[in-house]
Amino acid sequence: MDGRNARDDWWRHAVVYQIYPRSFADASGDGIGDIAGIRSKLPHLAALGVDAIWISPWYPSPMADAGYDVSDYRDIEPLFGTLAEADALIAEAHEAGIKIIIDIVPNHTSDQHALFQAALAAAPGSPERELYVFREGRGTDNELPPNDWQSNFGGPAWTRVPDGQWYLHLFAPAQPDVNWRHPEVRAEFEQTLRFWFDRGIDGFRIDVAHGLEKDWELPDLDGLVFPLADDAEADHPHWDQPAVHEIFREWRRIADEYSPARAFCGEIWVGRPHRLAAYLRPDELHTAFNFDFLMAPWLLGELRSVIDATIASHAAVGAPPTWVLGNHDVCRPVSRYAREQAGLKPMARHLDDFAELPADFDLGRLRTRSAALLMLALPGGAYVYQGEELGLPEAEGIPAEALQDPIWFQSGGTEKGRDGCRVPLPWNASGDSLGFSPEGSAAPWLPQPSDWTALAADAQDGVPDSTLELYRAALKLRHQLDELGDGTLRWLDGPADTLVFTRPAGAGEHRFECWTNFGVASVTLPQGRVLLASGDLDADGNLPSDTTVWMSR
Ligand code: NOJ
Repeated sequence: MDGRNARDDWWRHAVVYQIYPRSFADASGDGIGDIAGIRSKLPHLAALGVDAIWISPWYPSPMADAGYDVSDYRDIEPLFGTLAEADALIAEAHEAGIKIIIDIVPNHTSDQHALFQAALAAAPGSPERELYVFREGRGTDNELPPNDWQSNFGGPAWTRVPDGQWYLHLFAPAQPDVNWRHPEVRAEFEQTLRFWFDRGIDGFRIDVAHGLEKDWELPDLDGLVFPLADDAEADHPHWDQPAVHEIFREWRRIADEYSPARAFCGEIWVGRPHRLAAYLRPDELHTAFNFDFLMAPWLLGELRSVIDATIASHAAVGAPPTWVLGNHDVCRPVSRYAREQAGLKPMARHLDDFAELPADFDLGRLRTRSAALLMLALPGGAYVYQGEELGLPEAEGIPAEALQDPIWFQSGGTEKGRDGCRVPLPWNASGDSLGFSPEGSAAPWLPQPSDWTALAADAQDGVPDSTLELYRAALKLRHQLDELGDGTLRWLDGPADTLVFTRPAGAGEHRFECWTNFGVASVTLPQGRVLLASGDLDADGNLPSDTTVWMSR
C-alpha cells in the first residue's frame, strides 16, 4: 500500500470500491450476502489494490428498499451478521491497508423505526409526530395529499394514516422523511456518526444529501422539473435547499474532532456544477459523487466538457474531483455504452432508459475498459462499483416475478428499476451460484444470468487480457506513479477524435500521458512506452477505436 494512504487526506486520491452487501458474497448460505462474506473476500480487494471500501447500508432493515430503509442506525442487520463481525471487518480491512466508509441514510428512516412507530401511535399534533413530516390533507375531507410532490420511485410522496393525517416520503411509503428542523433529529444523527466513528470507520457516504432540508411551507411544484436550469433563480422546494449546508457544517465539525479526521462523500444529484461544489466548501463535505461524469455519453465532446466543468468547479472550492461509472442505482456501464450514445435523453441512467435500444455488448465492454483507464488517470478520487472489475453487464433478463426494486412495484410494473445491477457476484466459474454462496445453499436473492461463467473472478484471475487483470494493473500503477491521484491535468493536442492529457505533477523525467481514441480509425501513438492499454493495439502498434492507453514519454 502506498504512503499516500497513510495520510489524513487519503480521500483526495482514493479509489473506493463499493460493496453492495446483499450481493457481494454470502458466507451463511441463505442466498444473501453478508459481513462474513465480505471478510472472506478482503484478499480479493487487497489484490485489486483499492484504497477504501464503501459498504451500502448494513443496518437492521425491513428491506423495503434493500437496506436504504433503516430501522436502527446503531446495529447490524441480522441477515448480514453482528456488530462484533462489523468490528472484526473494520479491524481486518485496516490491517490490509483498506479504509472503510459506511452509508448513512439521513433523509428518511424505515417506517419500522421506533421513532416512526411512536409517531404513528401518537396523536396528530403530538411531539412524536414533529420528528417526521405529518400534515393535514387537502380537499373537503382531508382526502387529497397536502401538495403535489411525487415519490422518486413513482406515485404521490404522501401516504395517509388511519387518523386522516398524511406523512411525507420522497421515496417508498416505507421510508418516511424526517424533519431536519427538529433538534432531536439532528442529535440522533450526530450520535449515530459518533457511534460509528468511535468504532473506527473512516467516513460516511451520505444518502440523498441534497434532500434533507425542505421549504417547510411545502409549496406545490406546479410542474417544476429537477435538476433546475443553470440560471434558475428560485430554489426547488425539496432538493438542494440552501439550509442543508448548515447540517453538513455541523457534521464536518464532528468528523474533524477525530484523529485521523473522518471523511464524507455526499450523494448529491443537483445537476449544476456550482451547486454541487457548494457542498464541498472547506467546512462542509470532503467529496461528492460526480454523477455528470457517470451519465455522460461515450462521446469525446461531452466527456471533455464534463471533465473540464468538474475540475473547474471543484478547484474553486479546493475539493478533489471524484469520478464514477456505476453504482447500485444505475445501469452497468457495459450495457449503457453498448447502446448508441448520441441522442440519449437527459438523466438517462436506469436500464429502462436503454433497454429498448439495440445493443452491442462487445462494444460496450471495449468502451467500458477504455472509460475505466480514462477515469483512473483523471485527477482526484474514483469509485468502482462491485463487479465493474469483472466487466459485468446489467442483468437485463430478470423475470418479472423475481424483481424486488420498489421502482418496479411503485411504477405498477412498467419500470424494471435497478435490480439488474444488483445481481450477486460470480466468484467461481462453476457451482450453483457461481461461488456467491457455499454449495448447496439457498438460491441467490436475484437470479444470475446463465452466461456469467466466463466473467467469474476465478476465470479471470491471472488471465492477462481479462478485465480483472486490467483493473489490478491500473490500480497498481496508480500507486506507483506520483502523477496519478490528486493533482492537475493538462490537455494535449492529439490527432482528431482523440482525448489526450498529461498529469504534470510527477517528479521523474518521464511524462505520463493518457490517450483515448473516440474515432473510427486507429491513430498513431507517439514515441514512448505504453504502460497499460485497455485493449489490443493494432498490428502496427496504433491505438484502435474506443481504446485508452497510459504512456510514459
Ligand atoms: C439513494 C440510494 O443510493 C438508493 O439506492 C436509495 O433507493 C435512495 N437513495 C433512497 O434511500
